[in-house]
Amino acid sequence: MTQHNIHLTKLLDQALAGLRDETTAHNRLETLCEHLYRLRAELSPRQWKSIGALCRAHPIFPVLLSEPITSRGFVKPRGYAGDAKLMDLIYSVQPASGLRRESRLVHSFLKNRPSTQGARARKLKLATLLNRTLDEVESPEILSVACGHMRESQLLAPSRLNRAKRFVALDQDEQSLQEVSRSMSECSALSILPGSIRRLIAGREELGEFDLIYSLGLYDYLEQPVAARLTQVLFDSLKPGGRLVIANFLPVQDSAYMETFMEWDLIYRTPEEILEMASEVHMTEVGEKRYTEEHSGTIGFLELSKVSAMSVAA
Ligand SMILES: C[S@@+](CC[C@H](N)C(=O)[O-])C[C@H]1O[C@@H](n2cnc3c(N)ncnc32)[C@H](O)[C@@H]1O
Repeated sequence: MTQHNIHLTKLLDQALAGLRDETTAHNRLETLCEHLYRLRAELSPRQWKSIGALCRAHPIFPVLLSEPITSRGFVKPRGYAGDAKLMDLIYSVQPASGLRRESRLVHSFLKNRPSTQGARARKLKLATLLNRTLDEVESPEILSVACGHMRESQLLAPSRLNRAKRFVALDQDEQSLQEVSRSMSECSALSILPGSIRRLIAGREELGEFDLIYSLGLYDYLEQPVAARLTQVLFDSLKPGGRLVIANFLPVQDSAYMETFMEWDLIYRTPEEILEMASEVHMTEVGEKRYTEEHSGTIGFLELSKVSAMSVAA
């Protein structure tokens, strides 16, 4: 066993022992996550993969898997990591019930991590933007790309959402779309659209034009050429004066836990890389291009607006 592995095994042992006690669980898991993140930065991709295998062979792994976020991330019941049900576990503000003590401690550790706080802040930021759009634009047309359960919109009352002319929910996952229909049954503006990014990029979806298009939790899966192409396609679907908002995780320490114990690999982008996602958009049509972050600073946003009809005429 290498020095690396001996030290890591010791930290895994300590984290497992720490889970027996409320006072030590959080710190031991945090130390383990910090160490894994350092290894992730130092090692080659091949060496990093072998660290994952070592961690999943350790007795701590079944304990972590008894916690619902880790379990759903690793098992991937819908065939991909990070489905909308997993997002609901992250969004929920209810304390987890029915978990044994060790699982509960892991769950509360994960719910307080920057990445899960960031996901909740991302949802809130979009709810604010939806509210603003409904105030500023008469009968707006809105599109959510890879909507999942579209929980950000459910922070607004159905009567408010119905001020929209249409609110299109696009996702590849039929089960998620069924849940959107169920939970937003009072929203008459809702329009469900089963569809994939591939079809959007190929121009096989007749979407029309929108005042607001946004995408949360999708670009973290897209390589740069696909991300840039999709951004251009979505930008082209904006009305004059319309706004496009795209979220992406910034490099965060939690990536090490996710890759190791959940095999959930995302593409983490720097602010510059997030701005680069607009590289195929025709800049003459852009009114404003900016980078923002939600308040926890773990998720960045590319925000683009299209020049308004008036400025085009002028
Ligand atoms: C992490 S979830 C985010 C869901 C939601 N936007 C949110 O913020 O809670 C990712 C979503 O992207 C959808 N998705 C992933 N790849 C897709 C693709 N190629 N086309 C359409 N939807 C996709 C998944 O079905 C899933 O609902």
